[in-house]
Amino acid sequence: MSALLPGATIGIFGGGQLGRMMAMAARGMGYRILVLDPDPGCPARFVVDGCIEAAWDDSRGAAMLARGCDVVTLEIEQIGEHSMASAATFCPVRPSGALLAIIQDRIEQKNWLHKHGFPIGDFRAVRSLDEVRTAIAELGGKCFCKSATGGYDGRGQGKVGFSGAVSEDEVRGAWEALGEGPGVVEKAVGLAREISVMVARSPAGEVKVYPAAWNHHENQILDWSVIPAAIPPEMESDAREIAYEIADTFQLEGLLAVEMFVTSDGRLLVNELAPRPHNSYHQSERACVTSQFEQAIRAVCDLPLGDVDVVQPAAIANLLGDIWLNPDGSPRQPAFDKALAVPGVRLHLYEKLKPRKGRKMGHLSAVGATPEDAVERVLRAKAVL
Ligand SMILES: Nc1ncnc2c1ncn2[C@@H]1O[C@H](COP(=O)(O)OP(=O)(O)O)[C@@H](O)[C@H]1O
Ligand SMILES: [Mg+2]
Repeated sequence: MSALLPGATIGIFGGGQLGRMMAMAARGMGYRILVLDPDPGCPARFVVDGCIEAAWDDSRGAAMLARGCDVVTLEIEQIGEHSMASAATFCPVRPSGALLAIIQDRIEQKNWLHKHGFPIGDFRAVRSLDEVRTAIAELGGKCFCKSATGGYDGRGQGKVGFSGAVSEDEVRGAWEALGEGPGVVEKAVGLAREISVMVARSPAGEVKVYPAAWNHHENQILDWSVIPAAIPPEMESDAREIAYEIADTFQLEGLLAVEMFVTSDGRLLVNELAPRPHNSYHQSERACVTSQFEQAIRAVCDLPLGDVDVVQPAAIANLLGDIWLNPDGSPRQPAFDKALAVPGVRLHLYEKLKPRKGRKMGHLSAVGATPEDAVERVLRAKAVL
């Protein structure tokens, strides 16, 4: 296997913020970048050599992308099977279509994790209203219902049983939240913490596992995240071992983020997998020797992987569209000048053209002497916006 050296062209399925930040890292190393995205105004548009406007399941668009590239990777899970296969006839696609097919379907993903002995919470696969009802009754009490495909940031999800016994209305609401299609019903886990572990593996078989990130969610959307995570060293090493084993079992080529729950009784459960850069590792740009974005490029180009040691604690806080909108929906300008006065803080905006409630528009990052210090600074900066 030979490395793809600078000057080569990297294709990315998806031109959202993750594709944009990968493209920026790749440009910094001297690569050319093409992206494919259904939205011609996508965030990566402004930093790439070319943008192909095509749907995720448009295999002709995928072929057009791959024909112009030396390797193709992705920043989003929704790429159609035929698009992945079509791209693979022209150049290597990393991660592979086979891996993506498992991960992009929550049912397949959970079955795969279970089959390979990785720890996951109680769940049932459901394909009808009746099955949703039965699953909720069997699991008992509070449950999360998640659509099999396409969900993110808590979208395509319903919660039941959080305000007493589950009513028939709630069951029907959950089925609607699934889009009346296949999904999973998960028993709600008592959470002490949420963490994630990023792992990179190159085609040559080199593996690097990042230090865990500690993630704080609000309304099922990541709110802030910090590296290193304040968890006991044995738990940290167990979490990294799980991530290593998953990447190794998949024979991953690229990045894989492993989201995990730390339960209130001290167990680690795998929540979900993402075969791409992840929101909870944006602070790796400042906390680690090698950012997740550079690592993605190294991994898909089969270069030596970069060190992942912590240089300094760093945190990020997400900026949702809400802060660009007044309560009456009229536009407002967040006070970035005030936020940037907080020591150690940097601003990252994705050039999304329209702010919407709940839409990730950018993030703030902060370094600090300790993880607590980094979190305090980034939240202080966000609060003055
Ligand atoms: N079974 C569960 N028990 C407790 N909290 C959960 C459970 N499933 C999801 N959550 C909460 O919702 C968030 C989003 O769910 P997740 O499965 O990660 O979907 P998404 O694809 O939207 O990130 C999680 O990070 C967690 O905070
Ligand atoms: Mg998640």
